[in-house]
Amino acid sequence: MRLGPSLAGVAGRKAGTLPGYTYSEALKASGLTWNEATLDKWLTSPKKTVPGTKMPFMGISDPARRKQVVDYLLTLE
Ligand code: HEM
Repeated sequence: MRLGPSLAGVAGRKAGTLPGYTYSEALKASGLTWNEATLDKWLTSPKKTVPGTKMPFMGISDPARRKQVVDYLLTLE
């Protein structure tokens, strides 16, 4: 089962552009490029950041915990 797109190499990637994955139109049209700031915003509230996204995740409200996740994502090659 495929829950979401691979996050390998996500830093620097334009949102919704990994070949072979079927994204929502909303994410493809978001104009976001993934970096520390956009990942932090996205993970605060995916639905508020990109209305219409199909990522079923409420977000991470604690900034410190969010930073831990973002720091990790930035290491993925
Ligand atoms: C801390 C947890 C999570 C993180 C860090 C995370 C991160 C991300 C990121 C960065 C993207 C954008 C990828 C891209 O543009 O290529 C994405 C998209 C997506 N994720 Fe997550 N995600 C999380 C939780 C989840 C969960 C729990 C699910 C499903 C059960 C999920 C399903 C998806 C889906 C379906 C998309 C595509 C959204 C769309 O096309 O609108 N994610 N995720």
